[in-house]
Amino acid sequence: MKYGQAGKPHGIIGKIMGRLMEKMNGTEVPATISRLHIEPNDHVLEIGFGPGKSFKAISKLLETGKIYGIDHSETMLQMAKKNNTKLIEEGKLNLRLGSVEELDFAAASIDKVLTINCIYFWKDAVGSLKKIHTILAENGVLAITVRNSKHGLNKLYTRESLRDLLQESGYADVKIELLGKENLIIAIGKK
Ligand SMILES: C[S@@+](CC[C@H](N)C(=O)[O-])C[C@H]1O[C@@H](n2cnc3c(N)ncnc32)[C@H](O)[C@@H]1O
Repeated sequence: MKYGQAGKPHGIIGKIMGRLMEKMNGTEVPATISRLHIEPNDHVLEIGFGPGKSFKAISKLLETGKIYGIDHSETMLQMAKKNNTKLIEEGKLNLRLGSVEELDFAAASIDKVLTINCIYFWKDAVGSLKKIHTILAENGVLAITVRNSKHGLNKLYTRESLRDLLQESGYADVKIELLGKENLIIAIGKK
């Protein structure tokens, strides 16, 4: 599969994409975080963090908890590191290069997982969602946010297809929210 600049930003154009994501995807971050009900001691993982916009907001909800992030783009990794130097230095945030297809966190080690505007690019969504299910702790929560659009990549997922996908991958209490004004779909599943 060819990812293109949105799916795997690289080089100068990739950096420009990253800046655009910072500007454009502002609604997704608070909307997704609020649905995870993050607790002060949670371990939180973001998959496909792009420029790393969510980390400061997540860190404000944590005390002893930690944040982890994986993204398969070296350009995004560097941009996100630059945008979150303080959190990394404080040991609250751990970012690394990695793909959802090769998720290697220990079983039951993560309490909350979020992935925003990213699932369109996954090669095997059910396989990856099952892996996420394995690394989630008991009562852990996954939030998937996508744009609800009839164009381009965004049309790959609908409320119905996201519900089916989460149920097929073993998630319980699946809830799908449509944020009409923001044109977003947020899918929540529990371990
Ligand atoms: C459209 S950007 C969205 C970035 C950010 N979440 C946002 O909403 O602003 C998609 C991001 O997911 C990453 N990505 C895509 N497929 C991935 C995969 N299979 N594993 C890890 N990261 C992936 C890309 O490198 C890119 O940074």
